[in-house]
Amino acid sequence: LLIKNAPVKQILIVSLNAAVDRIVYLPHLYLNQANRSTYSIDQAGGKGINVARALKALGHEVLVIGMTGGNTGNLIREDLLHSHIPCSLIPLSGRSRNCYILVDQSNNTQTVINEPGPVILPEEYQLFCHELNRRLEDAALLVCSGSLPQAVAPGCYGDFVAMARAHNVPTLVDATGDALGEALPAQPYFVKPNREEAEGLLGHKVTDENAVAAAQEIARRGATVGLISLGSSGAVAVWDDQSIFVPAPQVPTINAVACGDTFLAGCAAAILAQKSIPEMLYWGVAAGSANARAGGAARITRQDFEELLQQVTTLANQS
Ligand SMILES: Nc1ncnc2c1ncn2[C@@H]1O[C@H](COP(=O)(O)OP(=O)(O)OP(=O)(O)O)[C@@H](O)[C@H]1O
Ligand SMILES: [Mg+2]
Repeated sequence: LLIKNAPVKQILIVSLNAAVDRIVYLPHLYLNQANRSTYSIDQAGGKGINVARALKALGHEVLVIGMTGGNTGNLIREDLLHSHIPCSLIPLSGRSRNCYILVDQSNNTQTVINEPGPVILPEEYQLFCHELNRRLEDAALLVCSGSLPQAVAPGCYGDFVAMARAHNVPTLVDATGDALGEALPAQPYFVKPNREEAEGLLGHKVTDENAVAAAQEIARRGATVGLISLGSSGAVAVWDDQSIFVPAPQVPTINAVACGDTFLAGCAAAILAQKSIPEMLYWGVAAGSANARAGGAARITRQDFEELLQQVTTLANQS
């Protein structure tokens, strides 16, 4: 894979539906009753921002490009600023969404409520596309990750892939449903469905046994590399006439939220480091598993990643 502008190490990350995650800790969650929280945290969230956080931890320059509005929009901006994550955010007339994560400390379960996000006006979307096109000039890689806000067509990731191709920039897409299916004909470098998303896309069960064939179907639909992440089983990739199944190391799993986002960050880092496709998958699996072990939310460290990369590489060479 040829990376344009090799000396410019910037990874452009699209975050169309950024959110404020309000994480509320409760001694116990009782339905249909008043609950008292122990404490709560507000942080910028959304898949693109998770990818940015993980890439930052791995030592990469990123630029988050998106749209935000309202008091929640200001909070997202502030949090990114404090996390030293550069961003270019088009101001919206609507208000960025909240996502509520209710953590029940009695059994360590999480109940998540995701708001749909603001309605985007056509002129706001146009401003975003203009900014994306401008930023692609200096990008080495484009990452499109996460759900779409209201009134944005499901074909938008496909349009972004095409825009990036015009700048010789490869694109990685992490999406669900129509946004995923409609990105494929534009020929992204890869899409990253998890097992359920791949099943939705292909219309049949995806097991560890048929995962290589399923990834082949995804490649036939337009991805350069057919790829599926398989949770604690690891991940699979096919390209040209080759394929690889990379098992995940067994780690004590504290929380698997954002494993896919961290996996994507690992793959992006490997692409920037001009690694081979098998190595790209090792990096992805190691980063994803580091997240499962660290407790989710894409808060991994470089040291954790490197330790697990060794384990993943050893495991892959044994199988
Ligand atoms: N329980 C686990 N133990 C070890 N590694 C894990 C575990 N869960 C996930 N991973 C790692 O993270 C990668 C991505 O996980 P998964 O397929 O679950 O992503 P996902 O469902 O898209 O996650 P999300 O959308 O919440 O970010 C896997 O390929 C694996 O390397
Ligand atoms: Mg996912």
